[in-house]
This record gives sequence, C-alpha cells and structure tokens, in this order.
Amino acid sequence: MTLSKEFVDLAYLVASVLFIYGLKGLSHPRTAVRGNLLGALGMLIAIVVTLFEGDIVDYRTIFIGFVIGGAIGAILAIKIKMTAMPQLVGLYNGFGGGASVLVAGAALLEVLSKAQAGDAASAALLNNPEFTISTAASGIIGAVTFWGSLVAFGKLQGLVTEKPVRYTGEQIVKILILAGALFFAYMIVVRPEITTNYWYMVAIASVLGVLLVVPIGGADMPVVIALLNSYSGLAAAATGFVLMNNVLIIAGSLVGASGVILTNIMCKAMNRSLLNVLFGGFGEVQETEKEGDIYAGKVKATSPEEVAMLLESARRVVIVPGYGMAVAQAQHAVRDLFNLLESKGVTVEFAIHPVAGRMPGHMNVLLAEADIPYDKLKEMDEINPQMEQVDVAIVLGANDVVNPLAKTDPNSPIAGMPIIEVDKAKTVVVIKRSLSPGFAGIPNPLFAMDNTLMLFGDGKQMVQEIINALKEG
Ligand code: TAP
Repeated sequence: MTLSKEFVDLAYLVASVLFIYGLKGLSHPRTAVRGNLLGALGMLIAIVVTLFEGDIVDYRTIFIGFVIGGAIGAILAIKIKMTAMPQLVGLYNGFGGGASVLVAGAALLEVLSKAQAGDAASAALLNNPEFTISTAASGIIGAVTFWGSLVAFGKLQGLVTEKPVRYTGEQIVKILILAGALFFAYMIVVRPEITTNYWYMVAIASVLGVLLVVPIGGADMPVVIALLNSYSGLAAAATGFVLMNNVLIIAGSLVGASGVILTNIMCKAMNRSLLNVLFGGFGEVQETEKEGDIYAGKVKATSPEEVAMLLESARRVVIVPGYGMAVAQAQHAVRDLFNLLESKGVTVEFAIHPVAGRMPGHMNVLLAEADIPYDKLKEMDEINPQMEQVDVAIVLGANDVVNPLAKTDPNSPIAGMPIIEVDKAKTVVVIKRSLSPGFAGIPNPLFAMDNTLMLFGDGKQMVQEIINALKEG
C-alpha cells in the first residue's frame, strides 16, 4: 500500500501539532501525563505513515529491529533505578545520535548505488548540496552525540573517571580534530561518490565527542546530558533533510530547541554559565572552609521522638526534599507523614529547588508518584519570603540546595546559587545519614546553626520512626 503525498503531509502536520501540544502539556505536572500521551500518539502516527509512505521498506528487517530495540528499551526502563535516570536518558540520546549516523550513511550509499545504476533523480540528488551537507551534518553531530553520551553515561555509572581529564593544548587539539572532521565533510559535498570519506569523518567526529566530554567533571554530567539531548535533536533534524522527511525535521528541531532551553534552565538554577560548565572544572572537589572548623562541637543530634514532639506543637511545616530522598526512596513514607500531620491540623508544604536531586523535575516526579497534591509543592521563590513563619523545616536528604555558603562564600563552587532559606525557619530538622557533603563536595554550615537539629539515619527509616513516635505520642 502506498499513501498519497498529500495524505502523508497532512498526517505529518497532525503529528507535529501533537508533538507541540505534547511539549506544552509537559510544562506542568497536572497536564504532563496527557502531554506525554499526545506526544506518543504523534509519534505513532508519524511512524505508521512513514511505514506506508512508499514501497521501499523491508518490513521483516523493521520488525526484527522493533523487537530487539523494544526489548532492550523495556528491560532498561524496568530495571533502572530512579537514581540512575540521568545516565539512562544520556544513553538514549546517544542511541539517537548513533541512529542518525547510520541512517545518513545508509542514505548516501543507497543514493550512490542508484545513481551508478543510471537513475537520473539519484544522480541529481547526489550533486545537490542540500543532501550532501545534511548528510555530513548528520554524521558529525550524530557521532559527537553518540560518543559524548557514552562518556557521560560512563562517568555517571562510575565506569569512566568522574574527574575532569585535563591536558595542555586541550582546546587546540579539539579545534584541529574539528577541522579534520570538517575537511572530510567538505569532501563529501564535492566528491560524494567516495563514500569512505563519510566514515573517516564519522571516526574523527567520534574522537571529538569523547574529547569534548572527558574534561568535564562528573558533577556537571546532567547539564552535559541536556546539551547532548539537544545535539541528538539537531542530528535527527539533519537526517530529516537527508531523507526529505518533514516530520523528522520538525521533531528533531523541537528536541534540539527544548534541549537548549533545559540546559539553560539548569545552568541558571546553579548560577553557572554554559561556558563555565563546558570549560570550567566544577566536578573537582574544591577547598573552601574546613569541615572541622564549621562543625566542631556545634552539631546537635536529635531523635525521631524529639522531632515528633516538635511537629506536635507546630502549625506550619515545610519539607525540603533532595537527592537523599530519592536514594532512600522515602517518598511514600513522606506522604504518610504528610497525611498524618494534616489530619492533626498542621499545614504541610514542600519546597522544591529547581536542581534538587539529579535531574530536572526529580523531586516533582517522586512526590507525584506518592500522590502528594500538586498545590502543596511550592517553588523556591514562593516559599523563601514565608520561611520566617515556618515552625519546622524538615530537610530530607537535601544538602547543597539549602547550603548558606552559596550566599556567604564567594569562593564556594555553589557561590551565587539561589538556595531554599530553611535557616530562617524557627527550627530546622536535617535528616541524613552523616555529615558527608552533597554533590558539590563542600561542608554545610546549616548543620551547625543554633536552630538546626540533625536526625542521622536513612531518610525512609527516619520518617517512618517519626510517624511511629507521632502515633504513639
Ligand atoms: P545533594 O547536595 O547531592 O545532597 C544529598 C544528600 O543526601 C547527601 O548529603 C547525603 O548525605 C544524603 N543522602 C544520601 N542518601 C541518603 C539516604 N539514604 N537517606 C538520607 N539522606 C541521604 O542533594 P541536593 O540538595 O538535592 O542538591 C542537588 C545537587 O545536585 C546540587 O548541587 C545541584 O546543583 C546538583 N545537580 C542537580 C541537577 C538537577 S537537574 N537536579 C543536575 C546537575 C547537578 P549522607 O551521605 O550523609 O546521607
């Protein structure tokens, strides 16, 4: 069955509109599930229509690819731990880039063999710079994305050193390698019949992909992954031009643009510039104030029973979740605590820092999974001015996002990052296992403040013990 061009274009238009509405839906937790479904429906329409667009497709190969790829994707998605989500997303971006390299390369080989067999349209296409330039762009961006994503995955998974790998002449080496890749890209445009140029270009761009990500510290990998996400979109858009497939061009551009927006949001929330992420060395542990000086004799440990007593007499409680809540998988216990306190007439809200956890929206996802009402989630700018009226602020597995050093120490790696100002609450209870630092690797003076009590232990277990004490009390 072959569909008419008008029908295909109309279906692609519908799919594109669904993508855009899907993305719009993803901008708010309330509409996110519907947004996701709309996007998936758009993709289903795009795939089905492409399969029937012409009779050039070998359905058996596609079916085998679908089964193998689908099985790998399903197994990964089911097995992955919530805390390893950033590297899974990184890996998916990489696969997208790798697919663009292979599809553009295959298209070049196919057009060449048809042109050599005397097909005039293919011969014209081979000499059309739109085709050859987009093929080269697909190959370069796709290879950089694939290898860069593999390194990012390796760093987060502990397979590659998390430390920034630096060497003299780093930038010059990268510029020379980029020039080498561009030379072969140029050769593809002027001599498209020599297809080995494509693979030389891909090999050189692969080295570039590794060298671009290796000097960035593990700490900055989530931002790098957002950027690589954008690259994978650009590679897909370029492949769309190679295949002259409108919906691929549109979908790729949407991914490219949203990746850049996400990268920007993450950088802003950490008060860093993209250049600082790409060329600075934030992943290294930096010496600021010594831990001993900050904590010596000032840290007060507490017990679940004492926290329960504090909560009994509180009228307003704010919970600040962080990465440790995800590690402990404490979100369901937190929901139970929330229900219990609200049933006792205590107002409970959640203060969400934009970079709490390890990926954008990390805390929102966990709290939504535990059925915490959305209107109880307060953004940092909304909650900070009200912090002085809060009786008890519970910091659950968060560290950097409540660290006052961000405001007081200009040498700190988090200097200038906006924080949730729990230190202004009447009492602060910090639940974590030890005095270990968080992601930025620096001590936190909050733990030694007069109004702070430390509840040492696993996040989930401690919340459960507070609930037990509240019920008994
Ligand atoms: P962190 O500063 O990383 O602190 C997490 C704390 O959780 C640790 O100090 C750890 O202390 C504690 N913890 C770990 N396991 C725990 C458990 N089972 N129970 C209780 N506590 C546990 O987290 P944060 O405050 O959420 O800050 C996020 C950091 O990640 C920021 O520096 C941010 O810039 C960075 N970052 C975020 C993103 C995104 S998009 N979210 C992207 C890139 C970077 P113990 O070991 O003592 O328990």
